[in-house]
Amino acid sequence: MSPTDTTASDRCAPCVILVFGATGDLAKRKIFPALAALHQRGFLHRATPVVGVTRRATSEAELLAPLDAAKGGGAAEADALAAFRADVRSLSFDYTAGTLRAFVDAVDALAHERGAGGARAVYFALPADAFEPTAALLVQGGLFTAGSWRRLCFEKPFGHDLASAQALNDRITCHFDEPSIYRIDHYLGKELVRNLLVMRFANPLFGSVWDRHCIDHVQVTLAETLGTEGRAGYYERAGAVRDMLQNHLLQVLALAAMEPPATLDAEAIRDAMVDVVRRLAPVQAGDVVVGQYGPGEVGGHAVPGYRQERGVDPASSTETFVAVRARIDHPRWDGVPFFLRTGKRMGRRLAEANIVFRPLSGGPFAGATTGVGPNVISIRIQPNEGISIEFNVKVPGEDLRIETVAMEHCHHCVYGLNTAEAYEILLHEFLCGDPTLFARWDFVEASWRWVDRITAGARAIAFPNYSAGTSGPAAAEALPGEGRHWIVSRDILS
Ligand SMILES: NC(=O)c1ccc[n+]([C@@H]2O[C@H](COP(=O)([O-])OP(=O)(O)OC[C@H]3O[C@@H](n4cnc5c(N)ncnc54)[C@H](OP(=O)(O)O)[C@@H]3O)[C@@H](O)[C@H]2O)c1
Repeated sequence: MSPTDTTASDRCAPCVILVFGATGDLAKRKIFPALAALHQRGFLHRATPVVGVTRRATSEAELLAPLDAAKGGGAAEADALAAFRADVRSLSFDYTAGTLRAFVDAVDALAHERGAGGARAVYFALPADAFEPTAALLVQGGLFTAGSWRRLCFEKPFGHDLASAQALNDRITCHFDEPSIYRIDHYLGKELVRNLLVMRFANPLFGSVWDRHCIDHVQVTLAETLGTEGRAGYYERAGAVRDMLQNHLLQVLALAAMEPPATLDAEAIRDAMVDVVRRLAPVQAGDVVVGQYGPGEVGGHAVPGYRQERGVDPASSTETFVAVRARIDHPRWDGVPFFLRTGKRMGRRLAEANIVFRPLSGGPFAGATTGVGPNVISIRIQPNEGISIEFNVKVPGEDLRIETVAMEHCHHCVYGLNTAEAYEILLHEFLCGDPTLFARWDFVEASWRWVDRITAGARAIAFPNYSAGTSGPAAAEALPGEGRHWIVSRDILS
């Protein structure tokens, strides 16, 4: 069960939740709001306190101030927030002054007071280079007690290439075993991404046509309208390939292309997902297009180019866009290209997968030049979550005119009131110990192995090569080739 359900009968076992990096952007915007929502819905055990861990002394009121700003005006919401607030403590953790013992004692005292026992769930909302040193200190300080579970959730990015990810993983697994490590990719918490499994394997209608015999190609687009939003320091080192392709795009690709898992068990699903990434063929010349945005207009407002953004090197060669033609070495997908693209400052915020079916190969309408379009299944991840299916119909009238129309399932219209944020779902799974929606090490390893070949083959390109507010560089438009083109789903609500 997940927080999408309406009853809270499966609250996770009690523990102390520790959020490191509690003063950071992610903790304020995502982690505390998600924990507050879980608390309000009754999904946190009443004996589970939340500790915000900071470097400098910070009051609970300061930590939770963004929640006040975001809350609605209702009395019920105010009561729920007050109840959550009562369960939150702020503890500072001085990495240099030897306060480790005092910190662990304070956590243990809180656990004792609340009856939380020895279990500890630690969320690392920290810069990646602080992950392992912090984890090692916690072990050294005796935060984890034998016989009680411990779980650690690490934010992305997990490494910046294969070698650094391996080194990080080696250091962390000196202290913790794989089942206690949760590597978060918030795309896996998005409803329509999770729906890919159900769509494909709970519907014979789709499952029976999900292969090279029927599918011409698959597209996944994750387009953002935002620029660096104050995270230029991180983005300059990451770029679109490391920030989006290595994780979010490959997760969606894996769910779209995986073989049916033997069971719905976490390991069976993760086995099937990693198999896809391991089978990705190395990219060939001409399979990758990168870009960087120059000045332009987004949503009617003039915006600066990437190199003009605060904190960005005025001669930066960081890519803010990437499009790739990927191939999966599996009989199911023989000859079927997967086109993946992502970019910042695109004309439209959009995340979707489009499954494009082969053109008619026989029958009376094969070769018809007008009206008959390909069948397309679009899985719209955001905005306006939903699924649409395009097919051909006869236009009313005497003549035989054909037109492509879309049949729409508007997911959020049906379920909108109950859907939880991705972080809420993932935190719940983390606290309950279900790793299905988290990246296992072999997935991370295989994804970096494939992505490293892309970054190693990158050539110097004259940036900027696309204007903010467009759909990316001209070369990316041409990437699908052979009469194919990028598709934007027919979203009847936008
Ligand atoms: N923000 C996002 O939207 C987002 C999205 C995806 C992933 N992430 C990942 O989430 C993590 C946190 O990101 P963020 O945006 O919240 O960063 P941030 O705003 O810079 O906050 C970082 C937090 O970590 C603390 N910190 C910084 N350096 C530290 C160190 N050496 N040792 C211990 N604590 C340290 C900071 O404490 P002080 O306040 O004392 O400096 C602050 O609480 C990063 O790994 C990032 O890649 C963030």
